[in-house]
Order: sequence, then structure tokens, then C-alpha cells
Amino acid sequence: MKRCRDVAGSRALPWRGNTPEHRWYGLGRYYAMFPPSFAYDAVQGLTDPGERVLDPFCGRGNAPFMATTMQRPSIGVDINPVGWVYTAAKLGPAPAERVLGRLREVSDASRPQDRRSRSRFETMAWAPEVRSFLRAARRELDWRGCAVDRTLMAFIMLHMQDKRGTGLSNALWPTIACSPAYAVKWWTRKGLLRPPNVDPKAALEEKIKRRYRYGIPRQTHGSAVLGEAATVLRQQNCLKVALLLTSPPYCGVTDYWNDHWIRLWMLGYGLRKNWQRSARFENRDGYRELLRDVFRESQRHLVDSAAILVRSDLRRHTAEMCVEVLKDVWPDEAIFVRATTAPSEGESVYHGHGGRRAKELDFLLPGQRGMKWSAANGFREISSLGDYLPAA
Ligand SMILES: C[S@@+](CC[C@H](N)C(=O)[O-])C[C@H]1O[C@@H](n2cnc3c(N)ncnc32)[C@H](O)[C@@H]1O
Repeated sequence: MKRCRDVAGSRALPWRGNTPEHRWYGLGRYYAMFPPSFAYDAVQGLTDPGERVLDPFCGRGNAPFMATTMQRPSIGVDINPVGWVYTAAKLGPAPAERVLGRLREVSDASRPQDRRSRSRFETMAWAPEVRSFLRAARRELDWRGCAVDRTLMAFIMLHMQDKRGTGLSNALWPTIACSPAYAVKWWTRKGLLRPPNVDPKAALEEKIKRRYRYGIPRQTHGSAVLGEAATVLRQQNCLKVALLLTSPPYCGVTDYWNDHWIRLWMLGYGLRKNWQRSARFENRDGYRELLRDVFRESQRHLVDSAAILVRSDLRRHTAEMCVEVLKDVWPDEAIFVRATTAPSEGESVYHGHGGRRAKELDFLLPGQRGMKWSAANGFREISSLGDYLPAA
């Protein structure tokens, strides 16, 4: 039987390529995505069917999605509306026919003035037909309130910022959006002065049909919550979580607002003009506080036997602060660590950089049932974190 391999190429997955789970896991381009084998192994080894999985920093929803396809209920929280749309769409995709019907309606709803470009960036990024479609979708789709609109919005967001010839745009980095000025300069330098002439309705119809080719996954209940994780968790009654599986934002690396500005614009948010203002947690105290707040609020929701698995950046500050906060919130628990051995699903690999260098550290508090799993999966009890970190 042909089994599919994740991008890291290292582990066999539960799915073959021609399954809905395989197709839908990949929906959404995001920074620091969990490779499917990582999420699968953790959910399989650390929970039983019916036990709940929580990811308070869920990004594009890989952990909650994987859990629900393995018949574990899940809850994913993210502060970024882009991550939330992907997560919510994957946890409850609308039927294909309704999504395709809505695509036609949105396409018919565009107005002549929607073709007009408002900036040099728009002129070079999208052909007039595409601009017109995007503006209509931005106006018409109720992505917060309606599952059909949200599912369609997930497809639009995915393909409006893509490689040239693949999606609806001139050449763009599919994961992170650079500043408009940088994009214009780069296209000019490369001679990519005109966006590709794409029929947005036909292109999206094809992409949607391809995604639905094997149907939608069989899932148990999962919920996606848009909001600040500590606040959301504070407001919930006890969730009885058996596995906290998460990857907090990396300290000083990415800016989850500006880096998604194109897709956020699509969701109706204004452009953030100040490219100097960042949300990269340059302030280490602020970063430590965030981790502490979210882990403390998560703690209340864990059952006694729960396991905690946190994927952290290999960079010193992120990793050290992560361990510091884990020890602070769970002082009586032993912490186990392993370095990733294969490249992550990140853009650096996709663009030919990176390689097989370890990029992340996984921290495990195994709870009552994770000890055997931890040994079988390459974890060692932390004696000195320094052994795992690059030289200062
Ligand atoms: C490393 S990414 C998670 C990626 C995810 N594991 C995946 O596979 O897609 C961290 C996420 O934390 C989110 N985030 C940052 N601060 C947050 C907060 N206070 N509450 C909720 N989410 C937050 C960011 O928007 C980002 O999506």
C-alpha cells in the first residue's frame, strides 16, 4: 500500500495521498506549521479517542484538525483572523456545491469600480479581473458568521498570494507577505511588471474541486476560537483537556500581523502602514508574560493525567524562556526535550534553503501516560538545555 510521507520526508503518515485528510491538512500557508507526522504522532501516542486536545496558539489549525480526524475533540485558539479562518474552515468545511455556488455569486457581484487599482502594489499584484473579484469577495463574504463564506474565503486567501503561474497573483511569497514597497521594487527588478492574466472564477473553481476531490474528512467535533488565548481560556468552563499540543510564537522572529497584511486586508482589515511597528516580541519580558499567562490559563483546563507537548524555536531566547515558564507553571513535572531531526515544512526548505538542520526543540511534560512514548520518540530529560542550543 502506498503511504504518504510528510514534507520532511522522514515519517510515514496514517494517510495515503488520495484521502480527504491529506488534502485538507494542507489548506492554508502559514509560518511555523506543524508537519503532519509531528501532530499525528503526538495525538496518537498521548491521547485515546474521545480525549480532548487543546492548541492555544493554533495557527492554521494543524493540531486541532489532526485531532478531530483521529476522533479526538479539539479546540484551537488564535489571535490572528487569518489563522482562524483556515482553522475554522478545516474543522467544518462547507459542502463543495455550496462553496462553488457562492463563488459564482461573488463573481457576479463585482462592480465596474472594483477593477480600479488603488496603489502601485495592486496594479502590479493582480490583473483587473482579479482585483475586481477580490474586492467583491471582501465586501460580500460573511467569513465570521457563515461556514460556506468562510470556506470560500479560505480558498481565496490561499491563492490570492501565491507563486506566479500557480495562483491569482504576480510572484509573491505564499507564506509571509512582504511590504508593498518591497514587492513593487522586487517585481520591477525582476521585470515582472504585469500581473498574470487569470480568470479568478475559473482558477478558484479548479482549485476547490481539486481540494474536494476525495470529499471532506470524517471528523469529530472541533472548535476554533478567534481571540487572545489567555483571555479566551479564562472565559471557558473547564475543558478537560488530555493533551496540550502547541507552538507559541517565536520570540523576535515573525510578526503575525504585518506578515499577513495581504490576507488581513482581504478579511476587511486596514493596511498597516507602519512597517517599523512590529509584534515580534522584541520585548523579552512581554514574551515571557504571554507564555506565562497562556500556560497558566491552560493549566486549569488539563485533566490530571494530561500531557503537554510544546514545539519551540531553537533560538536561545525562545527556547530558554519556554523552559523557564514551563518550570514555573508546572514546578513538580519533569521536562523532556528533543531536537527536530528533519527540516520543518517551512518556506526556507520550499525555496531551497534550510536543509536537514534541526530548527525546533520539542518540550514534553509527559503526564501519566507519556513516559513510554517519550523514550520511544527520542526525548531525554533535560539536564542542560545548553546542550541542545547553538553556540551563543
Ligand atoms: C508558531 S505559530 C503556530 C503555528 C501552528 N502550530 C501551525 O501548525 O500552523 C504561533 C501562533 O500564535 C498566534 N498567537 C500569538 N499570540 C497569541 C495570543 N496572545 N493568543 C492567541 N494566539 C496568539 C499567532 O497568531 C500564530 O498563529
